[in-house]
Amino acid sequence: MLTEWAELASEVSSCRACAELAATRQKVVTGDPGPGAPARLVFVGEAPGAQEDAAGRPFVGKAGQLLDQLLTDSGMARAEVGVVNVVKCRPPGNRRPTADEVARCRPYLERQLDLLRPRLIVALGLTAVAWFLGRRTTLAAARSVVHEVGAYRVIATYHPSAAIRFGPAGAPMAALREDLDFAARYLAGVS
Ligand code: URA
Repeated sequence: MLTEWAELASEVSSCRACAELAATRQKVVTGDPGPGAPARLVFVGEAPGAQEDAAGRPFVGKAGQLLDQLLTDSGMARAEVGVVNVVKCRPPGNRRPTADEVARCRPYLERQLDLLRPRLIVALGLTAVAWFLGRRTTLAAARSVVHEVGAYRVIATYHPSAAIRFGPAGAPMAALREDLDFAARYLAGVS
């Protein structure tokens, strides 16, 4: 599986389907498969930010550090999980990816999930939640249940950037903590 992942990564690294993103990115951020297939848990974020764009790895900036901490607090570890994004190239200024960019990148995430075959997916933020559940979904409505999406089981939660924006006492931080605990309990029940 890791060979196929590397082949996919090599394909994605030369992708120019989104002319603007291809022109402004430093590195394509294919994602991190974690221990490989079948994966227990895979996080899906929105798109790389500045630090990810420079490093070529997902969630290595502030949002990633918070994610790592929250994982630890829930009894899990970053090394045990896969981490990928809906869009593999940084949108300039960290703007939200357009619907067109999401559509062009869609086959890559589909192939990644096919390779990883996760038991559970945690969608971080509305772009990832909408990728699985459709664009009419709201985060408030989608949280706290395990959604069946084709072969996948998906939990929806806030993006760590929202938790940072609203601060440690804000609702998104509490929700993220709750949802990661929920994910850990779900995984304990299915393994
Ligand atoms: N935000 C994301 O959605 N993904 C990253 O990789 C980093 C920040």
